[in-house]
Amino acid sequence: MSYPYQIRSLEEYRSAYQASVKDPEGFWAGIAANFQWRRPWDKVLEWNFTEPQVRWFSGAQLNITENCLDRHLAEKGDQPAIIWEPNDPEEHYRILSYKELHSKVCQFANVLKNNGLKKGDRVCIYMPMVPELAIAVLACARIGVIHSVVFGGFSAQSIADRIQDAQCSLVITSDGANRGNKQIPLKSVIDDALVQCPSVKRVIVLTRTRVPVSMIKGRDVWWEDEVRKVETQGNPPCPVEVMDAEDLLFILYTSGSTGKPKGVVHTCGGYMVFTNYSFVNVFQYKPGEIFFCTADIGWITGHSYIVYGPLSAGATSLMFEGIPTYPDAGRFWDIVDKYKVNILYTAPTAIRSLMGFGLDFVKNKDLSSLRVLGTVGEPINEEAWHWYHDNIGKGHCPIVDTWWQTETGGILISNLAGVTPEKPAHATLPLPGVQPVLVDEKGEELQGNNISGNLCIKFPWPSIIRTTYGDHERCRQTYFATYPNLYFTGDGALRDADGNYRITGRVDDVLNVSGHRIGTAEVENAINMHTGVVESAVVGYPHDIKGQGIYAYVIFNGTKTDDESIRKDIVQTVARIIGPIAKPDKIQLVSGLPKTRSGKIMRRILRKIAEGEFQNLGDTTTLLDPAVVEEIKGGRL
Ligand code: WT7
Repeated sequence: MSYPYQIRSLEEYRSAYQASVKDPEGFWAGIAANFQWRRPWDKVLEWNFTEPQVRWFSGAQLNITENCLDRHLAEKGDQPAIIWEPNDPEEHYRILSYKELHSKVCQFANVLKNNGLKKGDRVCIYMPMVPELAIAVLACARIGVIHSVVFGGFSAQSIADRIQDAQCSLVITSDGANRGNKQIPLKSVIDDALVQCPSVKRVIVLTRTRVPVSMIKGRDVWWEDEVRKVETQGNPPCPVEVMDAEDLLFILYTSGSTGKPKGVVHTCGGYMVFTNYSFVNVFQYKPGEIFFCTADIGWITGHSYIVYGPLSAGATSLMFEGIPTYPDAGRFWDIVDKYKVNILYTAPTAIRSLMGFGLDFVKNKDLSSLRVLGTVGEPINEEAWHWYHDNIGKGHCPIVDTWWQTETGGILISNLAGVTPEKPAHATLPLPGVQPVLVDEKGEELQGNNISGNLCIKFPWPSIIRTTYGDHERCRQTYFATYPNLYFTGDGALRDADGNYRITGRVDDVLNVSGHRIGTAEVENAINMHTGVVESAVVGYPHDIKGQGIYAYVIFNGTKTDDESIRKDIVQTVARIIGPIAKPDKIQLVSGLPKTRSGKIMRRILRKIAEGEFQNLGDTTTLLDPAVVEEIKGGRL
């Protein structure tokens, strides 16, 4: 039996969902038939969650860029693939048709080949949100080179860690980046990182801000010069590298509750199928529509829903270089108005921040082109949901609340716009092929509705994480060892009377600050690198705009200047080690931390104090030094 690719009604959703559970292989084979494969699969799915090993479409061959570009050329060659809005609204926008994008990707893929790259090599991309970033990503994919995009807000040290972990041989960057009225010196950050990265033999530098940069002979080359070389070779075509479905497509680093960020690995076939399927169904994309995802390509949202999902669906993807508040808090609405955006996909933190600027920035903007709104990255509170619904969607646009993770590759739980019911603050129902379960502390699956527990998924979907790069055991430990035979998400959730899921947030030591994932251990390690710091403990606390703020308790016995200077220095150290996104919002200097007799920090107590909840601190008598709790309560910021 075959099912429509795009689900159009609640009944169709139900029957697709049932089919996907009853016969997952048959279901996904039907979906996968909508793509261009160089060789069909021998087996749709092989899996176990113990090693873990998951293989989708094994034996099949493809290239994702053939599906994102080449196959659209005949019918959509002149349609815009990417619309680019610069940081400065006065600067001219750019539109790249599918034909143009295809030719630029081929050209730059040839640049990469000229620079010695071949299938399986790793490339680090550290770039601003300009079309060349998407071009670089796709050029890698075209020749089977594994990209590792690092968000422009990470520090030299963070980049170096990522480059070393993946042993990248080439870096693609730009001189600088524009962000609001600031400029960020990307190349100079790369120069600092590369001091620690002997694997990097070549740096390709795009011209963007034209700030002075150092260009090291034999290592650094200009993007424009390299492209010119390919032009003088007569712009030869660039045939795709034919990839196995399970060959690596990319690595994307993300934070966990322990240690350094890990490289989440996605592979070619399953990732392509699922990002496309989820894009088309969640947003109910219609040909010709303009889709604006406000994320940065440095995060998974940008990978899946600026680049691969929309382009594989032949959509028009709008890419924005700047920030929502520049030149003023009406910028998103100006962009919607200017390009007649049909679907807007953003984060609750952006909505909350823009709400704070008032409706003056929304007034007089024509938002009538909008048909669907989306949110991602963190739970959306009801107030923000209603503001978005009433003032941006004017009451008639469905809002899709999309729950997923870097590790899931694509959206797993969400309503389908206008097709399945929405419910404020609820991600609602799983997509076809996704089998969520809630478990209790012991890992027992909780049956029925009106319950809460830890969110796990009990069956693989095509874009599930395959491994953590270079360390499969870490993948097993992190996601598959907590509960046997289940993928553990790290999130807690409720299931209401109708079976709708509401994600309540992380149950591990991972923070979600403005929709960015940050490990408490990572921030602690950075703080502990500051001279004079003896020990620290980091927890999250509710923050009106960011969702969560970072609260650090620090034992400091270095040179005593005033507390304020000490705090500022610590913040500076964290920005240096991780990047500005991990700066603590509050730093409380303390003389001790609440510890058990075995020396474990009682984070539960610290979390409660940071939240200002002094009741229900639980039993503190088992602490090594109960008095320290009183001191910390007294000094709360
Ligand atoms: C974590 C994953 C996936 C794209 C961006 C974040 C939280 C994500 C929602 C949502 C409530 C959400 C979860 C998840 N999260 N979407 N709609 N409702 N929480 O990707 O950096 O891998 O973070 O973001 O806590 O585990 P990420």
